[in-house]
Amino acid sequence: MNRRALLAGNWKMHMNIAQAVELAQAVAKAGSGCTDRDVMLAPPFTALASVAQALQGSNVLLASQNVAWEAQGAFTGEIAPPMLTDIGVRMAIIGHSERRQIFLEDDAMINRRLRAALAFGLTPVLCIGETLRERESGATFRVLEQQLRGALQEVSADRAEQIVLAYEPVWAIGTGKTATTAQAQEAHAFLRGLLADMFNKKVAETIRILYGGSVKPDNIDELMAQADIDGALVGGAALKIESFERIIRFQ
Ligand code: 13P
Repeated sequence: MNRRALLAGNWKMHMNIAQAVELAQAVAKAGSGCTDRDVMLAPPFTALASVAQALQGSNVLLASQNVAWEAQGAFTGEIAPPMLTDIGVRMAIIGHSERRQIFLEDDAMINRRLRAALAFGLTPVLCIGETLRERESGATFRVLEQQLRGALQEVSADRAEQIVLAYEPVWAIGTGKTATTAQAQEAHAFLRGLLADMFNKKVAETIRILYGGSVKPDNIDELMAQADIDGALVGGAALKIESFERIIRFQ
């Protein structure tokens, strides 16, 4: 199957504007020769407009780290989809485990965010993943299914085809503990099967499934060699150009 690889950096709550612009320019330069893969950056909200300018003329895709479900209104602290498209944002991370765990976002809320993103032309990067307790109790697949079905409620097959899915086992995020390639591939294959069941085979084969959780220069090649791993959502290693460039240039 010919899915285009997507290497994505999630900067989380890091970087002031000057640092963000500098790193974005370095990433644009590093990615300029890559015609067979996509590169995405998700800076914090405060740096989005400046990074959008810095990325003009490059092929790096710009993403937000979240998105509200209404176009405007009394939603203190939230950012609406048209505010993002207005400054050149094309994609939005939705349902990151830090949003779920620290800010108590549930599947219903994530579903509203995802449908709004699609309605306003933003590509959702939907994150799902199990905790260590859930994995150890044998609940991984049940949890993944619940999160996937919950997030994609009332989404048509046509629309579903446009999303990017990210499998991020919570126990592997920022811990230095990567899922083994076999564990990651097993979860990705499960998710692809589930997508075929929920929608159809074409949707399942079109959607890119990224792996996230302690992706580093020394494990990217092996991860990318797996049949159902179509890219990576990178946290810590995306904050330094040396490590992120190596990840972009996986073999
Ligand atoms: P780390 O790469 O720092 O483990 O973070 C992964 C992640 O949460 C990306 O969204």
